Amino acid sequence: MQRQVRSARSLRGTIALPGDKSISHRAAILNAIADGEAVVEGFQRAADCLATLRCLRTLGVDWRWEAGPGGDETALRVRGRGRDGLSEGDRVLDCRNSGTTMRLLTGLLAPQPFFSVLSGDRSLRSRPMARLIEPLRLMGADIRGREDGARAPLAVRGTTLNGIHYRLPVASAQVKSALILAGLYAAGETVVEEPARSRDHTERLLQAMGADIQAGDGTVRVRPLAHDLRPLSLRVPGDISAAAAWLVLAACHPDAHLRLNGVGVNPTRTGVLDALRLMEADVTEDEKRPPRAEGPEPVTDITVRTSRLRGAVIEGELVPRAIDEMPLIALAACFARGETIIRDAAELRVKESDRIRATARELGRLGADIEELPDGLRIRPVGRLQGATVSSHGDHRLAIMLAVAGVLAEGETVVRNAGVVAVSYLWFWRDLDLVSGRES
Ligand code: S3P
Repeated sequence: MQRQVRSARSLRGTIALPGDKSISHRAAILNAIADGEAVVEGFQRAADCLATLRCLRTLGVDWRWEAGPGGDETALRVRGRGRDGLSEGDRVLDCRNSGTTMRLLTGLLAPQPFFSVLSGDRSLRSRPMARLIEPLRLMGADIRGREDGARAPLAVRGTTLNGIHYRLPVASAQVKSALILAGLYAAGETVVEEPARSRDHTERLLQAMGADIQAGDGTVRVRPLAHDLRPLSLRVPGDISAAAAWLVLAACHPDAHLRLNGVGVNPTRTGVLDALRLMEADVTEDEKRPPRAEGPEPVTDITVRTSRLRGAVIEGELVPRAIDEMPLIALAACFARGETIIRDAAELRVKESDRIRATARELGRLGADIEELPDGLRIRPVGRLQGATVSSHGDHRLAIMLAVAGVLAEGETVVRNAGVVAVSYLWFWRDLDLVSGRES
């Protein structure tokens, strides 16, 4: 499917964001091994999280959609099977495009007393798994895969595990979470150190569910489950990665004023806000609503207006906190005064696409002055982009960034393979029409 995108005269409106993707995956997986039922409101129903739900069903977990307490259509009711309640699937666990599904479930399945096979689409089957399999094997896991476990499909022969003390070579919330999940079933303590802080939703949810887990100073310690997890009903905050599209669109547009309600602002995720502020974007956050009964994650409302952006250097600890938003930050840099450099971001090369190459190539087609670096991008401002035909490379984050670029560009932009936005943002095109003042 391809989409035509045109510039918009003005951008106004309030956007209700989809639920956070990372938190939705975790709320489903962790409640699946809790003892009892939980209702997850605002669960993200896009393709990645549905892949997790289907895999859980294959593992014997019962869940269904229902109207939430606030009449919320997307509430998910999960009937937890307890610590030892998962059962062997009779088919391959198809993780589709979702790295989070594959990596978290591999960690969870390594210590189960049964056999599992995990696979996914072509993109996922080409992504690195050695970073996951190596530490799990150190714990005693029996996992096979193509290229000695470096690529999926992965075959997991469940076995007993021992806790380890492991320092991650790259900051990865997916690998960290997989080790934490394995650690819930391993003998002794599991300690994971990370070189920079990655998202900590797994730690927060597990703490709220009564697990013996401590996190701080870049180190997580988890002890095996001595008892079942308590089910955790929560409202999933709005996805800041989805919000980033609107933040960048409004900041770069000459006549924009948008409001984003209920955005999750966990500090391990707010790198995009920090980067945009470094670039002097006009972004204001209402006072944060602290984590409370609705869940262990802080939430706020955000207003963004037309801004005079300045180039910046985006590097270091900020990068893992904005890793999925880097293509959008690169787009914003096209409209800034002065050069922007993104570095320390080599991880972008192993996402759903090589996001360094794809961002440089596709923004280049729109007239951007953008250069690939081994671990990032150098962007010189051009002040205006020119509509063209571009490709998402089958990557949802690229498709969304290019659609935003199309609204900012002069003339018409055609985004090829645009349907992939449904991986993380089902209503993206509807929301784009809404803020641009077009009926869909
Ligand atoms: C995610 C972690 C990040 C991110 C991905 C979602 C998660 O990947 O890019 O979109 O939910 O844990 P890494 O942990 O591999 O950096």
